[in-house]
Amino acid sequence: MRTQVGIIGAGPAGLLLAQMLHQRGIDSVVLEARSRAHVEGRIRAGLLEQGSVETLSEAGVADRLHREALVHRGLHLRFGGRDHRIDLSGLTGGKVVTIYGQQEAVKDMIAIRLAAGLPLLFEAAGVALHDLATARPRVTFRHDGRDQALDCDVIAGCDGFHGVSRASIPGGELRLFDRVYPFAWLGILARARPMAEELIYARHTRGFALATMRSTSISRLYLQCAPGEDLAQWSDARIWSELRTRLGARDGELEDGPILQKGVTAMHSFIAEPMRHGRLFLAGDAAHIVPPTGAKGMNLAIADVRVLVRALEAFFAGRGEALMDSYSATCLDRVWKVQRFSWWMTQLLHRYDGQDDFEEHIRIAELDYLAGSVAAQTTLAENYVGLPLG
Ligand code: FAD
Ligand code: DHB
Repeated sequence: MRTQVGIIGAGPAGLLLAQMLHQRGIDSVVLEARSRAHVEGRIRAGLLEQGSVETLSEAGVADRLHREALVHRGLHLRFGGRDHRIDLSGLTGGKVVTIYGQQEAVKDMIAIRLAAGLPLLFEAAGVALHDLATARPRVTFRHDGRDQALDCDVIAGCDGFHGVSRASIPGGELRLFDRVYPFAWLGILARARPMAEELIYARHTRGFALATMRSTSISRLYLQCAPGEDLAQWSDARIWSELRTRLGARDGELEDGPILQKGVTAMHSFIAEPMRHGRLFLAGDAAHIVPPTGAKGMNLAIADVRVLVRALEAFFAGRGEALMDSYSATCLDRVWKVQRFSWWMTQLLHRYDGQDDFEEHIRIAELDYLAGSVAAQTTLAENYVGLPLG
C-alpha cells in the first residue's frame, strides 16, 4: 500500500488531520490499534476553545456540533464559601467556549471519513515505523489477519501518550519534561440536570471539585482524589455527598441521578521536544500531556494539527520544507504557554497534603486577587477561551 501521509491513531488529532488533508487533495491512511466501538466509547474531554470550534467547522465536521453543543460565555469559581463569575465573553471581546464531548467529535469524524470511502483501519495490530530518517518512511502492521506495509512520504504520529510513534524516535534525540502531580481526578458521568448553566470550579479544604456537563440532561463531575484511588471505596451516595460539600451546593442545587460511568484520571504535565524526527511528525498527546484542569488536551491536539496541515500542504504543493522545519518550534511556542496555564489552574485550585501554611495563604491571596481584579480575570479568560492559533 502507498499513501502520502500515514497517520497513526484515530483520536481527535489523527482524524482531524486526515480530514483537513483530504480537503486539500492530500491522501492519507489512518491506522488505529483499537476497535471502532472502543474509540467511540472512550469518555474524555468536553470543552472546546473558540478556535477549536472554528477549526472543526472549517474542516466540515461540525454540523452536529453546531446543532447539539452548548455555548458558554462565563464560568464560576467557588472558594471560601463565595461564588465568583468570570465573564469570559465580556473580557475577551465576545469569545465563547463550547461543550461537546470529545467522543462525539470523534464519532462525527469517523462517520464522515467512512462515508467518503476513505481509508481508516481499526484494529491494526503491531504497528511499527521504519526508515524515518529517509524520504520514504514505512509503516508495517497486521490487519485482517495479514501482515501489511504502508509506504509514505510523511508519517504523522497521532497515537497518544502511550503510542508507538514517540517511542520510535532514537533515544537521546528527544528532550523530555515531566511533572506528576500528587493527586488525580475521580470523574463521573451521570444522568442528572447540570448543577448550573455554566461550569463551576471549586476549591475546598477537602479538595478540588468541578461541575461540568455534556448536555442539559447529562452531568460530568470531578473530584480531586488520590492517584491510586480505589473506586470500590466510592459508593454513589459518597460521591454525591462529597460533590455537594466541595461544590458548596445549596439545597436542591445539585440533583443526583444514575451514574453512567466512573473513572480515575491521572494528572501529568509532559512535553517531548522536538515534535519531529526526520519524516515523522508528532501531534497531540503523542508529544505532550497537560493536567485536565482547564480542559486543554484536545484543544492543543487541534492546534498542532492546524500547524501540521499548513506545513504538509506547502510540502506537497512543491513549496519546500520550511514549514515542516519550523513545525516543532511553532507548536511548542503555544504548547508551553498552554502547559503553563494548565499547571497554574491545577496548582491554584487543588489541595496539597502536607503543604505549609505559607503556600496555603499565597493561594488564597491569589484567588482573592483574581476575584477582585479585572486584570487577573482577563488573563484567565484569554487563556481559557484559547490563545491565538498560528
Ligand atoms: P488520543 O485521543 O489518545 O488518540 C490516540 C489514538 O491512537 C487512540 O485512538 C489510540 O487507541 C491510538 N493508538 C495508540 N497506540 C497506537 C498504536 N501503536 N497504533 C495505532 N494506534 C494507536 N482532556 C481534557 O481537556 N479534559 C478532560 O476531562 C480530559 N480527560 C481525559 C481522560 C482520560 C482518561 C485521558 C486519557 C485523557 C483525557 N483528556 C482530557 C485529554 C484529551 O482527551 C487528550 O488530550 C486528547 O484525546 C488528545 O487527542 P490525541 O488525538 O492526541 O490522542
Ligand atoms: C471538562 C473537563 C475539564 O478538565 C475542564 O477544565 C472543563 C470541562 C469537561 O470534561 O467537560
